Amino acid sequence: MQSRIVSAPASTIEADLLVVPVSSTHFSAKTSGILAPIVEALGYDLFDEAAVEGFEGKKGQSFLLRGLTQIGSRRLLLLGVGDNENLSSGALRQVGVTAARRARKFRFENVALALPAELPEKLSAQIAAGHLLEGFERGTYRFDRYTTPRDDAFQGVVNLQIVLPGEQVIGEASANDDVLYKSRVLSKAITLARNLVNEPPAVMTPEQMAISAATIAREHGLENRSLNHAQLVERGFNLILAVGQGSDNLPALIHLVYRSANLAAGEKPARRIALVGKGITFDTGGYSIKNNMQIMHSDMAGGAAVLGAAQALAQIAPANLEIHFIVPTAENSINGVAFKPQDIIRGYGNKTVEILNTDAEGRLVLADAIAYAQEHDVDTIVDLATLTGSAVMALGDHTAALFSSCETLAENLLAAAKNSGEDMWRMPLIERLDKTIDTPVADMKNLGPREAGAITAALFLRRWVTVPHWAHLDIAGPAYMSSTDDFYAQGATGYGVATLVDFVCTLV
Ligand code: BES
Ligand code: ZN
Ligand code: ZN
Repeated sequence: MQSRIVSAPASTIEADLLVVPVSSTHFSAKTSGILAPIVEALGYDLFDEAAVEGFEGKKGQSFLLRGLTQIGSRRLLLLGVGDNENLSSGALRQVGVTAARRARKFRFENVALALPAELPEKLSAQIAAGHLLEGFERGTYRFDRYTTPRDDAFQGVVNLQIVLPGEQVIGEASANDDVLYKSRVLSKAITLARNLVNEPPAVMTPEQMAISAATIAREHGLENRSLNHAQLVERGFNLILAVGQGSDNLPALIHLVYRSANLAAGEKPARRIALVGKGITFDTGGYSIKNNMQIMHSDMAGGAAVLGAAQALAQIAPANLEIHFIVPTAENSINGVAFKPQDIIRGYGNKTVEILNTDAEGRLVLADAIAYAQEHDVDTIVDLATLTGSAVMALGDHTAALFSSCETLAENLLAAAKNSGEDMWRMPLIERLDKTIDTPVADMKNLGPREAGAITAALFLRRWVTVPHWAHLDIAGPAYMSSTDDFYAQGATGYGVATLVDFVCTLV
């Protein structure tokens, strides 16, 4: 798909479908903005026409005009975005997704997306255009590697135009700059993460995850310091090894490093951070076997988000940073030597864990990865994991649970999530629950009471943290959708990539 920005009166845009976001504020005031030349060309009151069909510019509403000859586009689709004051990046991405779905349904090859008539102060035209593109790219995503192509299959949108009203120019950018660069990079990274997650478990093994990471490193100039199984054994990553012990697919620890090009060799960056993602390529539960393992190939979605962020950040290339991308990856499976309840294991961080439940494996591999990250002089660690069903019970399937002992870090992550249109809610690290993972036979056990499971999982991770700034994102809900809704398609969502990239880009 080709995408470009065009600055022209909307009435002259030639496309199969022209999509215009309309806020309720503008609709009720009949502020035409980008629609003005269209209203003029149509020769009747478009607003009245839409109002008759119940369109008011509210979120989720749409109004379609077909068979148009008065303007360059055959069809005009108005999409409601709600109150203009609160126009968010999420609403603009939603416009992109909806437009892409309509285009697919009706097999339109040429689509145009207009910017809303007026943007709130915090949104520049450049950023808004980027959100429209990101939404559209998200909406066109398909995981079709394994479906036999049909001869009459829709080949997808060929041309996407993002329309700025009249002579408007985008920020400071000159005509030759690709003002959509960041959005293109981000969209590709989200697609990468979704692909990694959607692959079946027989394909996306820990070894394959490490190969995918190596490819990202090679193609985008990141240093690859990943450790293979033998190196994990040699260095005592016993928790990762325990989780992977019951599978022929051997575990690994993926480690990619980004260092800003402006830093001289040995120069200290302004910030050194680690992004850590759970990479369980399939979670059977182990001997504490799951009775429903339907979507457990997605248990590496945290790792996939970290690899997606690695690819995007390598291309966006922020200055003064060193970023460690770390993914402990293993298959939680069963054989005669698989780890078992009552095993006691000394982790890489030199604390012992009594295993009470082999299905609480995510916190185990993360503990080793957090301990490893801390060897690299990082001041901040953010981990992402499809860690607990409890987080889904608490917040539902669209919202990640954020845990952090650092106010600033929590605020920055919530802000990044908001900018990225990803839902996130902060949850408390309740001190009195910490003792519930004490055990007389080891430094801690890997299971708390049934209640507040997402919190005790977070408290377990906190026991391994020594850096001043740490945050944990339980993404068990939003990482994967069991059915399609208005924004997410069934399957992997790529949740976290956009938030991580935004978070890192606003760090320094
Ligand atoms: N991978 C699961 C968590 C999960 C559940 C992810 C639903 C996505 C959707 C994790 O390893 C797990 O099994 N957690 C257990 C922990 C329990 C045994 C303490 C859970 O949440 O039931
Ligand atoms: Zn599990
Ligand atoms: Zn798991």
